[in-house]
Amino acid sequence: MQKLIIEGGSPLRGEISISGAKNAALPVLCAALLTKETLTVKNVPALHDITTMLSLLQQMGTTIASPYSSEVSLSAATLTHLVAPYEMVKTMRAAILVLGPLLARAGEANISLPGGCAIGLRPVDQHIKGLQAMGAEIQIKHGYIHAVASRLHGARIIFDIVTVTGTENLMMAATLATGTTILENAAREPEIMDLANCLNAMGANIQGAGTDIITIEGVPSLHGAEHTVMPDRIETGTFLVAATATKGDIYLRETDVHLLDAVLDKLTEAGAAIDSGKDWIHLSMQKKPKSVNIRTAPYPAFPTDMQAQFMSLNCIADGTAIITETIFENRLMHVQELKRMNANIEVEGNAAIISGIPQLDGAHVMATDLRASASLVIAGLVAQGETIIDRIYHLDRGYENIEGKLTALGAQIKRAQ
Ligand code: EPU
Repeated sequence: MQKLIIEGGSPLRGEISISGAKNAALPVLCAALLTKETLTVKNVPALHDITTMLSLLQQMGTTIASPYSSEVSLSAATLTHLVAPYEMVKTMRAAILVLGPLLARAGEANISLPGGCAIGLRPVDQHIKGLQAMGAEIQIKHGYIHAVASRLHGARIIFDIVTVTGTENLMMAATLATGTTILENAAREPEIMDLANCLNAMGANIQGAGTDIITIEGVPSLHGAEHTVMPDRIETGTFLVAATATKGDIYLRETDVHLLDAVLDKLTEAGAAIDSGKDWIHLSMQKKPKSVNIRTAPYPAFPTDMQAQFMSLNCIADGTAIITETIFENRLMHVQELKRMNANIEVEGNAAIISGIPQLDGAHVMATDLRASASLVIAGLVAQGETIIDRIYHLDRGYENIEGKLTALGAQIKRAQ
């Protein structure tokens, strides 16, 4: 199993480009199922989750041109196999995103139930409830969601809980339904707007994406289009935290400062100097960081996908901070690993109390999920001595060429078997 070996102590300095957003690219690729014509998607990041999604779409009958490049053309002229098998869903929960499009276009879908995952239970009841309100008949049998609908119809759906992929699934399904669908208490994440822009370019009629009420007028069919995936705000934030923690000075290109307001506020509070232009962010950190309290919540509040990285920053900051995770029940697993590096963290329920110490010690640690892995990389970059991170396949699911980008910024990092 591959590992990363990091020699801590080098401040990050230099310039890199940010990749397309994983969590925007995944639903956009699924949107190809909604039309017989070709959807061309640009700025697709080279990640394991993207490869898994493309294989799944291929299995369903989608023809994919240049699946290993950043520009992918998908053509789902005929859908032959309306199944997302357990083997794929268990490695990538985002496979649930094929449910809405398949049902809307082909009238049937068989999707393995995702089950729990490392960071929490993550049920999909809101996806199912919404599709039922749109007329789908859904049965759970042998661990699979079996859904049928001759034609979905519009409905008013009020989410009990804010869900990102739930909002995306129902938004995609509603594009081909008869009549009007109104999604209330919808997620407002920028990735939802990116998907809505793509769907509207394909001929859908969606209004309000980016707010908590989204209105979709169904249309008889969608057509081909070209779409460029938005920059990855979590990759951007991860590099900004790494630069802050190492007292670095970095320029990030091909990104968007407006996607990161809550994260930039916290970095400024920690002491970083930040300036930005249309598609770049510059961060410079001259002093020891100050501790910052964090409470995760749906967008536009502080993202759960940045919580672990700020935990590492707080480990070496001046003062004591509280980080409260409100989205997932079990997303503090990095704490145990950070403690192996001598961090001073106490966990009480869904909160972690972090007392900053002058320096972390390099150690052998294990990545437990994608963002936890990112926090260990940041900890390794600031620690004294060598840090070895096992199970880095988690990182490869969500960070394109992370060691290449960190090396370009002066980090001492290498991959080993
Ligand atoms: N939830 C339910 N029922 C549902 C759906 C969700 O109870 O039907 C709960 C979840 O268990 C969780 C909360 O609602 O407690 C929010 O979950 P959400 O559905 O918003 O998460 P998701 O759509 O499965 C996406 C991202 C995650 C990100 C979350 C929160 C994708 C592919 N994944 O997941 O990204 O953490 O939104 O912002 O978009 C990551 O990239 O590392 C990652 C985990």
